[in-house]
Amino acid sequence: MQDKIRVLVSEEDVDKRIEELGKKISELYGDETVHLICVLKGGVFFMCELAKRITSPVSMDFMSVSSYGSDTKSSGVVKIIKDLDESIQGKNVLVVEDIIDSGRTLSYLLEILKSRGPKTLRLCTLLDKPDRRVVNVDVDYVGFEIPDEFVVGYGLDYDQKYRNLPYIGVIEFE
Ligand code: IMP
Ligand code: MG
Repeated sequence: MQDKIRVLVSEEDVDKRIEELGKKISELYGDETVHLICVLKGGVFFMCELAKRITSPVSMDFMSVSSYGSDTKSSGVVKIIKDLDESIQGKNVLVVEDIIDSGRTLSYLLEILKSRGPKTLRLCTLLDKPDRRVVNVDVDYVGFEIPDEFVVGYGLDYDQKYRNLPYIGVIEFE
């Protein structure tokens, strides 16, 4: 049975916001190449749309991480499932994420990336749930701040479903 999904951010509003973010990012990097790092799988849809709206030269790489298991989850230790293909040394790295929740995954990931010597390291997330933050993360670009609700669409899944929704929605559990 299909779940009922309430629209939280419409496709039109997401598109508009991504265009604004693309503009801001292009203004910052100018003619310098920005190296986008997508955190799989949730960040894929956002990164593709964002990349199309950046006028600075763009290169891209992908990374996949997962939590080490429930007992070590609180430490924020993540396991790298798929590492980057290329070195980020000396590059203007912009990490592109779907959502920041507790902040654990991102703060750990950013530490790893920082140790690899990028020229600059910034973070762009489509969604931010500030009420849920456990670990502080400095976010440079936020699409939308949202309340503490479980959202799907635009890359975000519920049990691997709904990533392909062109809007951001909330599942209305009966
Ligand atoms: P955290 O910031 O380390 O707690 O983890 C963030 C990750 O949890 C995100 O990258 C998502 O994969 C997942 N996540 C958090 N909130 C949601 C949500 O509302 N819907 C779908 N996935 C979520
Ligand atoms: Mg994610």
